[in-house]
Amino acid sequence: MKDGTKDQRKDGRKDGTKNRAPEERRSDPPQTAGVTRRGFLTSVGAGAMAVTAAGGLATAEASAAPVIEPGEMAKITLTVNGRRHRLLVEPRWTLLFVLRERLGLTGTKEGCARGECGACTVLLGDEPRYACLTLAVEADGQAITTVEGLLDGEELGAVQQAFLEEDAYQCGYCTPGQILAAEGLLRATASPSPAEIRVGMSGNLCRCGAYPHIARAVERAAELKGGERSDMSGGMPGDRAGGIQKGGRS
Ligand code: FES
Ligand code: FES
Repeated sequence: MKDGTKDQRKDGRKDGTKNRAPEERRSDPPQTAGVTRRGFLTSVGAGAMAVTAAGGLATAEASAAPVIEPGEMAKITLTVNGRRHRLLVEPRWTLLFVLRERLGLTGTKEGCARGECGACTVLLGDEPRYACLTLAVEADGQAITTVEGLLDGEELGAVQQAFLEEDAYQCGYCTPGQILAAEGLLRATASPSPAEIRVGMSGNLCRCGAYPHIARAVERAAELKGGERSDMSGGMPGDRAGGIQKGGRS
């Protein structure tokens, strides 16, 4: 009733119908494109209730999650290159820091430390990931592969061998990240096309500009792994449509 009274006052001010019976005013057509004001307010109200309920749910979930205080250590388990490690880590530590400084796996390089260069690429499961943008606690319970894990005993793995054969590096600083990006690509697509190679490797920069060799190495690695070589015989990827694109991995 209170709302109705307010509506009546408003209506009265607008169109001079303040003396009409409430029933008449309710039948007035304050409609826009088939939606009544009442209908609109009802639906908005229902939406707001749904949002409030969802917010309540999120709050309940958040309050159920364990809270780690600053400086407090979290217990995590990482399986790195097939070996299980139980670790105490600070919540702010990146996976890159833990791999290099706690596990001594310095094959994974730090370049920009902000998700731009790809030097820190590792595999989380089979997916290439920037270790500098991944918190160690996020990787808890997961399998991680670094460049050291691609060795086949004392022999180089297929992708490493292919990079060596195709001379796909100069200073070599980006190379571990490039190799892991290629490994991830080939696990997802055994025989990638030139375009798929460009896209798959687009999150890894090479400041020495070894892109054409890197693309040929990915092809060669596909061959060594048993996939078929894609048709790049007509030229290097750098000769076509911009070569390997530069950019971050999403
Ligand atoms: S060091 Fe991680 S993207 Fe550059
Ligand atoms: S080989 Fe030097 S940055 Fe790629």
